[in-house]
Amino acid sequence: MRYPQNKEEVVERYSRVFSKATRVTYAPIVAVEVKNAIVRDLGGREYIDFLSDAAVQNVGHNNPRVVNAIKEAAERLIHFTFIYGFPVEPLLLAEKLAEIAPIDNPKVSFGLSGSDANDGAIKFARAYTGRRTILSYLKSYYGSTYGAMSITGLDFKVRSKVGELSDVHYIPYPNCYRCPFGKEPKSCKMECVSYIKEKFEGEVYADGVAALFAEPIQGDAGMVVPPEGYFKKVKKILDEHGILLVVDEVQSGMGRTGKWFAIEHFGVKPDIITLAKPLGGGLPISAIVGCSEVMDSLPPLGHAFTLSGNPLTSRAALAVIEEIEEKDLLKRAEKLGKYTKKRLERMKEEHELIGDVRGLGLMLGVELVKNRETKERAYEEARKVVWRAYELGLVLAFLQGNVLRIQPPLTIEEELLDEGLNRLEQAITDVEEGRVPDSVLAKVQGW
Ligand SMILES: Cc1ncc(COP(=O)(O)O)c(C=O)c1O
Repeated sequence: MRYPQNKEEVVERYSRVFSKATRVTYAPIVAVEVKNAIVRDLGGREYIDFLSDAAVQNVGHNNPRVVNAIKEAAERLIHFTFIYGFPVEPLLLAEKLAEIAPIDNPKVSFGLSGSDANDGAIKFARAYTGRRTILSYLKSYYGSTYGAMSITGLDFKVRSKVGELSDVHYIPYPNCYRCPFGKEPKSCKMECVSYIKEKFEGEVYADGVAALFAEPIQGDAGMVVPPEGYFKKVKKILDEHGILLVVDEVQSGMGRTGKWFAIEHFGVKPDIITLAKPLGGGLPISAIVGCSEVMDSLPPLGHAFTLSGNPLTSRAALAVIEEIEEKDLLKRAEKLGKYTKKRLERMKEEHELIGDVRGLGLMLGVELVKNRETKERAYEEARKVVWRAYELGLVLAFLQGNVLRIQPPLTIEEELLDEGLNRLEQAITDVEEGRVPDSVLAKVQGW
């Protein structure tokens, strides 16, 4: 194998061989070596990582416990069919997930990515209830496979080209910074909850609805945290109509918000949880954890993949869980999250460009606006901040075009976190003071 020698060559070859449907880029970082929150580039430059591979590296890049687990498992048993056989690692992992998930007496199904977990959850929910309709949220993201794409509320202009599952309805997510009902906290009467009741009266027959799919914090919509009490009220309505609550913890789970699962902040027990991203510490594994009766509603091979229940990825996931437990990373995420949020709020006092700071634990968003009154989204400024951050040695991304995504590993060293925040603030200052030229806009794609 000839390893390319410079990153320009890599970037150019990427554009020739990869379908554009598989990627969206922010900065040309060609990672060759990683350690916890540091990423080293092909040119030898080091970056502090505030993206964690899109919330994958909760226990840090190449966490030694995970690396050793993978080595040990690879030498012993890379794969033995889970579908036909009884490898031990997926058993231990499923038992562990059943223990930590806020679901009574659950059963588990494994897959390879968050998208397939959500596809499976659609199948389980429909099979169990015998109903077809799925309720989902506007601006939600559930993945790229057909089912997950069909219930995703963000519009990638794909469904109009390729078609979609039928019987999906969308409702507005409770976003208190940009209330979809035009309310302010003072005038709010939880219209986001009454909307669901009205929907059932006029548009969608509740007794035909299988499940509501919800991200407990809407990640790709820009780290939107629902108000206190929202999920409790919604769950009550769902229970009245026998509708399942499916919670997508693909991004928010595995300690990211200071609890194993973000839904635990809201005092609600879901019927199904989907997991992926950080679960395998960088290896592809997903899980559906759901009430036993729901998970037993499909016949054999109703949701099975040849490589699911893989011993190697299961062993890596067990190491991720051990690491979270032994290093008390739930507490650490909470503590570092509070500290980071405080620093971001202080930045907001200094920088007009920051309209809102929000999130839980280390799942934080910084919304950039052109004007705090009108809340006009600062799209170009966000792209410039991300580019300037890259120049300053910080891996950063935005969502919704203007919300900076702050999701460092839960294991990031405190000095590095501080240094990353310094670089972030410097990038914001440089953009505000006109030191980042318009020419960089063409270099940042993002979404
Ligand atoms: C909340 C959420 N669900 C599902 C997915 C899809 O997961 P994957 O890309 O692993 O298929 C993502 C990915 O960004 C996500 O953020």
